[in-house]
Amino acid sequence: MREYEFVSLDRHDGIATLTINRPDKLNALNAATIRDIGDAISQLGQDADVRGVIVTGQGEKAFVAGADIGELATMGPVAGVRISRIGQDVFRGIERLGKPVVAAVNGFALGGGLELALACHLRIASSNARFGLPEVKLGIIPGYGGTVRLPRIVGRGRALELILTGEMIDAAEAHRIGLVNRVTEPAQLRSAATELLQKIVMNGPIALALALESVAHAETTSSDDALRLESNLFGLLASTEDMREGMKAFQEKRPPRFSGR
Ligand code: COA
Repeated sequence: MREYEFVSLDRHDGIATLTINRPDKLNALNAATIRDIGDAISQLGQDADVRGVIVTGQGEKAFVAGADIGELATMGPVAGVRISRIGQDVFRGIERLGKPVVAAVNGFALGGGLELALACHLRIASSNARFGLPEVKLGIIPGYGGTVRLPRIVGRGRALELILTGEMIDAAEAHRIGLVNRVTEPAQLRSAATELLQKIVMNGPIALALALESVAHAETTSSDDALRLESNLFGLLASTEDMREGMKAFQEKRPPRFSGR
């Protein structure tokens, strides 16, 4: 396990918090930060004690204010493709972690920052958060999955308005269009994210992983294939101790004790 330069990790009661930690640049994603996020996510994926993850930004002003414009300014076309692919792969790793990931959006979530939040499974925003994809103002397009994930979450018309205008929206508007699940006062953001994740991770961990897998698979395939996978995963859960325990606990009118087996 290596030391990270631009992210910090802490763990408490099965919930890990990954904080993007480059506040003097509003947590902008340079190549080293993207690498740190990727390594930290794969570390959390392998850690059986971690049942859920919160992603947030250091400081009060920004979640992440985008990819590092200083680095992008000098790229050529081949580097552009490579930079985009590397970021996409890291964010895919978040989406496919197999454990629930909640973005706690504590300020600006712009460009790659919004794309990072979109790769998380759920989003909670503080009331001072601002969201946008300003890439077209710089003569580029979102390259870390924004054109793919935003339309799926808020619908094509709303996504295109954000992508084509490059304008920001506030937390209330983000909530209204379904971009975030809920909005809290800044001081309550971390506790709200933790509370939501605690409710989730009380449930069977294998069931959570397979629910995430089924929803993700449904986005990439036909309904027939997706329904078949759902049945197979549903059946697979009947082989787990967790299913026996969940149903027995219900019948015995007590909370379940899931073992993840
Ligand atoms: N890349 C690199 N550096 C960035 C950055 C980014 N995406 N976003 C902010 N920073 C840096 C600023 O250059 C500044 O650094 P400096 O103090 O060394 O000059 C520092 O972070 C603070 O930002 P600043 O612009 O002074 O804060 P502000 O409150 O005036 O404005 C924003 C905040 C978010 C509106 C503004 O920083 C901004 O528009 N950032 C770029 C957003 C963007 O286009 N992202 C998409 C990139 S593809």
